[in-house]
Amino acid sequence: MYIKNIQLTNFRNYDVLETEFHKNVNLILGNNAQGKTNLLEAVYISSIGRSFRTNKDSDLVRFAADFAKLKVSAEKEIYDTSVEIIIKKDSKKSIKKDGVIVKRTSDLLENIYIVIFSPEDLKIVKDEPEKRRKFIDRELCQMKPAYYESLNNYKKILLQRNTYLKEETIDQSILDLWDVQLAKYGARIIQMRKVFIEKISRISHDIHESITNGKENLQIPYHPNVPVLESLKEQEDFFYEEIKKSYGNDMKQRTTTKGPHKDDISFIVNDINMRSFGSQGQQRTCALSLKLAELYLIKEETGEDAILLLDDVMSELDIERQEYLIKTLKENQLFITTTDLDEKLFTAFPDAKIIYVESGKIKDKK
Ligand SMILES: Nc1ncnc2c1ncn2[C@@H]1O[C@H](COP(=O)(O)OP(=O)(O)O)[C@@H](O)[C@H]1O
Ligand SMILES: [Mg+2]
Repeated sequence: MYIKNIQLTNFRNYDVLETEFHKNVNLILGNNAQGKTNLLEAVYISSIGRSFRTNKDSDLVRFAADFAKLKVSAEKEIYDTSVEIIIKKDSKKSIKKDGVIVKRTSDLLENIYIVIFSPEDLKIVKDEPEKRRKFIDRELCQMKPAYYESLNNYKKILLQRNTYLKEETIDQSILDLWDVQLAKYGARIIQMRKVFIEKISRISHDIHESITNGKENLQIPYHPNVPVLESLKEQEDFFYEEIKKSYGNDMKQRTTTKGPHKDDISFIVNDINMRSFGSQGQQRTCALSLKLAELYLIKEETGEDAILLLDDVMSELDIERQEYLIKTLKENQLFITTTDLDEKLFTAFPDAKIIYVESGKIKDKK
């Protein structure tokens, strides 16, 4: 699949913009703070209905404007699709897929698949666990609307339960209402994460082996805060019991201490944990293997070639890694941003469309 065209109104630092994209490689060039990442952000939102860098939709509205609008048209294997999103500063966003209003954001999913690789992702191995959970959530949400629903419900209930735990007097029977719901959605999250992490670990392993010419054996184990059980029913019952058992701790800390909101994954290369003992180069290669694994997994599960956004990462990778990326990604539409006029990129992608960005305006050369 590939994005054919984008139209923006009042999006970030763009007032009006319409442009066509190349079905393979789009090189987005420009100095800092001109709007390169903003353009990728607009493209990305068409996949899951939200940004990769802010949870506040109103940030996307151009300063001094009261709404932002974006429309993305994409060509897919079987049929074409369009996504139109209007974000108003003071009300809910409205989303149209193929011209029809979608009621829930989750109805937008399973349509356009996009993977973003940014300098933030290069740090995923050594960052705090929250970043790794965010990665898992983002990818699973994109592929599984059921996960998106469970995660949203879990987060809502977790927030309410934590707020209630801060009250002076706690009524056990009220708390139990949340415990039941937390166990229900938490169990679904744990079970889906388990399956996802096993798959992504298997694929990353093979990619990593190939990038390192067979020298490195990468494993990505799941470290669930609540142990994984066989069936969803067992998982739900077990998690519910765990919540009950941690009541003392929860009361002491005035917060929910057990659950998938404390999960983590690790990156193990040749039996060594990369978070503590990996070199920066090794950590980055792990991140690259992980990102490429997402593309393969999407292909495996949906048959579609996902679109890859490379935001300022090319220059962060060494030549060998860059070349690996270039030679592996023949089938995927790429958007590559960079500040410097990298001769290597021009040579690697002679047919690429080159888009110059300056103060929220673009000049395209092909
Ligand atoms: N809501 C907004 N309205 C207007 N300008 C914005 C908005 N959000 C960000 N910007 C501007 O966009 C610019 C950053 O764009 P970005 O795409 O991140 O730059 P880069 O080209 O370095 O990737 C900054 O100058 C910032 O002030
Ligand atoms: Mg940028």
